[in-house]
Amino acid sequence: MVVFPTETVYGLGARLFSPKGIQKIYSVKGRPSDNPLIVHIARLEQMSLLTEDLPAGAERIIKKFWPGPLTLVCRKSALVPKTVTAGLETVAVRMPSHPVARKLIEAVGEPIAAPSANRSGRPSPTRYADVVRELGGDADLILDGGSSEFGLESTVLDVTRVPFKILRPGSITLEALKKVFPKIALSAKLGKSGRAASPGMKHRHYQPACKVVLVDPKRWKKTVASWSRKNLLIGLLSRAKSIPLSSAVVFNQSFSREEDYAKNLYRSFFEAEKKDVDVLLVERTAGTGLGAAIMDRLNRASA
Ligand code: TXA
Ligand code: MG
Repeated sequence: MVVFPTETVYGLGARLFSPKGIQKIYSVKGRPSDNPLIVHIARLEQMSLLTEDLPAGAERIIKKFWPGPLTLVCRKSALVPKTVTAGLETVAVRMPSHPVARKLIEAVGEPIAAPSANRSGRPSPTRYADVVRELGGDADLILDGGSSEFGLESTVLDVTRVPFKILRPGSITLEALKKVFPKIALSAKLGKSGRAASPGMKHRHYQPACKVVLVDPKRWKKTVASWSRKNLLIGLLSRAKSIPLSSAVVFNQSFSREEDYAKNLYRSFFEAEKKDVDVLLVERTAGTGLGAAIMDRLNRASA
């Protein structure tokens, strides 16, 4: 079981055809057995071995976005073990762009099944140090590939039905996908209670040890001021806001570019924890483009 870097977040991987390795992933993560894993490939031939009836439209998407932060949910072939798909007839496949991930898959000579390298419910590590902190001695090997370029998990797109639906927003945005197929939409089940679009979306997720409170940009100053009076340790994560700081504020990071906000989100959660922050105030961002992915994670982190 190897932790390896990808351009999105670090993955906790095992050989696709190693039942022992797959089992170990579920147990180390404490992952519910109904939540399937993503299969990582390095070559397109592997895609044809793992899937069946791949629609021509999916091939257009692959041409445009692979390798990169996009996962496709497809009909699975008989080759794919059911333990990896949690009993589903579909399989999620992604071709990462990170050179270390690709070299690892090539070297193993087999696709690698990997969820994000966090314990179930926790934020995903995007740096070597965060992996060590999260998994400690439980990984057999950790490959250090520096900081993840995007910092949020891949976009998950269901291509088993037309129009294709986004099950999890990510750095490949709805707007970018619509340029290829204007009818692509966010799954109606996303963000609603009840049946989840994708098994992983119904579980508690991305939560650091501190309380996460989302704040509207317009109410930022007032909210920070009022929390600062409560005799708690406060952390701030915002879009380039300068405010007079009180001694209650022990963590303060701001990122004006949305890409940087996404890239540093989980890393900031871990940093805030290290500073023993009680309440992390996080500024909301627009829910479109990359903001849709950021807000999806923030809503779950603060739930
Ligand atoms: O960026 C990423 O995707 C990272 C890196 C390591 O590649 N991996 C990752 O894996 O985020 P994980 O396990 O944390 O998230 C996989 C998501 C879950 O929400 C899961 O329910 C969904 O993909 N998923 C996997 N197989 C599926 C399937 N057959 N149908 C629907 N959703 C599926
Ligand atoms: Mg995950």
